[in-house]
Parts: sequence; structure tokens; C-alpha cells
Amino acid sequence: MCTVLQLSDLHVEPAGVLAYGQEDTAGKLPVVAGHALELAKDVGADVVVVTGDIACDGNETAYRQVADAFSIFDAAGIPVRFLPGNHDRREPMRRILAGYFGDFWSGDRLDQTVRVGGVRLFLLDTLQPGRHWGAIPETVLERLADELSDPAPAMVFTHHTPLTCGMGVMDEDFGNREAFLKVLAARPDVRLATGHMHRAILQTTGANVVVTAPSAALAIPVGFTASAGDCFRLEPAGWALHQWREGAWNTFLGHFAMEASYAGPFPFAGAVNPED
Ligand SMILES: [Fe+2]
Ligand SMILES: [Fe+2]
Repeated sequence: MCTVLQLSDLHVEPAGVLAYGQEDTAGKLPVVAGHALELAKDVGADVVVVTGDIACDGNETAYRQVADAFSIFDAAGIPVRFLPGNHDRREPMRRILAGYFGDFWSGDRLDQTVRVGGVRLFLLDTLQPGRHWGAIPETVLERLADELSDPAPAMVFTHHTPLTCGMGVMDEDFGNREAFLKVLAARPDVRLATGHMHRAILQTTGANVVVTAPSAALAIPVGFTASAGDCFRLEPAGWALHQWREGAWNTFLGHFAMEASYAGPFPFAGAVNPED
């Protein structure tokens, strides 16, 4: 059995700075980490995976705040593993959050393998500096295909989702989309869990279940117009819990018990996708 608590899209700003002028993500951070630790202990989580947009603009101060907030997991003996999103920078993440990664696949990117008993988690880095949308390089897909040729149970995590859902501006390109889905399709028992959409979404490809975790901050209202996805509301932080049990992945979705005004919608004005 393997139990994974997934958090996504913390969008942490330096203390005192509101994300997009509205949400106190720095103040929310230790509250979210505290609730996450409580949940992880309650369900016996083996690992916590945070699927990107850790900082709101790649700010080093934000990564230090994240390292400090998640250090409470160290004492509990529960490992935390981070992936980058489009609002992150690889170099400061790797440096400041050292100790919070699995086995890296390369010296520069943040693709990694996390092993929990006989279950393998493949955390794939989809960050393209300066761009909002994601991609997976051919070499990473080749490695993934090779890893998945081993029939042992596995799950794949990314920040960006390769699937579209009709939410206007969030439906974007995904580099190597078809090749990625083809690699996954060879293993229908493998689940893909993503972030980036700031809303819980369950989708299927031809073979695989894809689940997008709700965000810890800046919740995007559901909408199907061309401009849908360009605004957010102030909601409680969400979570996803994935458990490999009796030959299948079960995914549970929920929110932490915390105050929220649900105010909005507010625009993602001045969003930054760091270029380095
Ligand atoms: Fe995000
Ligand atoms: Fe994102």
C-alpha cells in the first residue's frame, strides 16, 4: 500500500505581500502546512508531493518561507517532495529546498523518482521558463517509458495537465502531449496527478485516469467562456490524497477546515512566469 498526500499551487509571496494584491499566501502557508501534517498523520501518508507553483514569481524569500513551514514534517518523519510550476525557478528551488526532492533524473531539471516500498512515483518537471504552458522533453518521455516497462505499481505527477477541459485561458498547448499520453496509455493502471488548474478536475484519456488537485491558494472558478480561468476567489486550501490499494489507485479530494471569504472574482493581474 502507498498513500500520497498531494498539495498544489501554494503561490507563496514574501511575508507582507498579497498575491495579486488579494490573497495572503504567506500567512496561509503555515496554516496549510499544519493542516496537511495533521491529515498526513491521520491517514498514515507515506509522502507529501507538492505539484508546483510553490512561489508566486520564483522569489527566493518565498522558498525560504516554504522550507521553514514544511520543516514540521521532518520531525514527523514524513518526506515532502516538490515539483516546479510555471511560476517557479529551478535553481533557487533546488538550492533552498534541498532535502525535499527524490532521486533526480538529471543535474539541472527537477524530474525525480520517489520510492515508497514497491510503489514508484515519477515526478516530472514541465516548467518552460518564461511560458505559462508546460512541456515534457523527449528524453524524459523515453526514460518514463523505460521506467513504466517495469510492471510494478506507479503514479506520475506533473504541474501542468496535458488534457484540456474547456476553461478558456487555461486550455493551452502542452509540449509532447500526444507522446506523453501514449506512454501513459501503455499502463492503464498508472494514474496521472497534476496541478496548475486551481480546481479539482477528473478526466480520462483513452486509458488513464487524470486527476487535477485543487489549489492551496487562488481558487479558479469553473467557467467555459474564452476568458474563463483568468480570475480567482479566496477559498480554503484544497488537497488530494492518492492511495494504492488492492491493485488500484483511489483518489480522495477535499479542503482543509480554515476560514475563507470566497471573495472575488479577482484578476490574475501582472502574473509572472520567471524566465530563468
Ligand atoms: Fe498555479
Ligand atoms: Fe501553474
